[in-house]
Amino acid sequence: MKRKIEISVLVLLVGLSIVAIILTTGKDNQQPLDFEPTITSSPTLSSREITIRNMTKEAITFYLKTYNSAENPHPVAISPQEIYRFSASSLTQISFKQGNESVSRLLSPGNPYAFRYDENNLVEIWQASHSREDAIDLAPYVPTPLAVVDKMLELAELSSDDVIYDLGCGDGRIVISAASKYGVRGVGIDIVPERIKESKENAKKAGVENKVEFILDDVLKVDISEATVVTLYLLPESNALLRPKLEKELRPGTYVISHNYTIPGWENKLIKEETVVTNAPNEHNIYVYRR
Ligand SMILES: C[S@@+](CC[C@H](N)C(=O)[O-])C[C@H]1O[C@@H](n2cnc3c(N)ncnc32)[C@H](O)[C@@H]1O
Repeated sequence: MKRKIEISVLVLLVGLSIVAIILTTGKDNQQPLDFEPTITSSPTLSSREITIRNMTKEAITFYLKTYNSAENPHPVAISPQEIYRFSASSLTQISFKQGNESVSRLLSPGNPYAFRYDENNLVEIWQASHSREDAIDLAPYVPTPLAVVDKMLELAELSSDDVIYDLGCGDGRIVISAASKYGVRGVGIDIVPERIKESKENAKKAGVENKVEFILDDVLKVDISEATVVTLYLLPESNALLRPKLEKELRPGTYVISHNYTIPGWENKLIKEETVVTNAPNEHNIYVYRR
């Protein structure tokens, strides 16, 4: 799998208002993260709040200062899983160690961010989806392109008595397409209120609001046992985190279809792998598992 970072640049240009904060380029390791660090408006925070979550396994010290100001950067240290919150009225410059180098990025007020490892195992800061203390941030919001949604649904071999669950449903496109095209019932779960609001509006526009349900909650806290098909577009470590839940709650034979990232530990459950090219050379991998 190669150079997927380019994929989300295009996706995000279409779907979101973007200001790239980080000048990272594609790298060639396995499963590179295609969630490009970006600034988008986040309805989950007040307009001045910035949050930084430490999703790595190490304590991180970073330095903050108002961008373009003469002030001295002030140091902050956060432990793994800790969230640091502060208020800012304009762009904030954050500096931190990436390997032996010191690097700087810009953070925009009103947004949640997370330190994670990049595909070279170096600490990087990325846009996050939320800043709730009681839930893990499984992935930033990046919608699956509709051509990829179509292929995922085709691979699910849906029939009318199937029930499809999208874990981290974004704008609801996967369950709404499944309900529109295959007449199945669908459930989408997302932790960001704005995503659930959009999902409900989109379901109404598509005329399938009686076929779909959208739940505002942490995916890890919702019972998914009635699903016959589950779709995922989450970070690799989030798939790993979800695996015990999938094993505990899903019935044997349930399809689990993941966009771009494998489910670590489920190598023997992988039944199919497909690639969809959207805007060449953007490749999207789809992994089909059966529980
Ligand atoms: C990459 S997007 C995928 C959206 C959609 N499934 C799609 O493929 O178009 C990941 C979604 O997961 C949501 N998310 C992140 N952490 C979550 C959690 N703990 N519980 C529920 N949703 C979460 C984000 O808000 C975001 O909408």
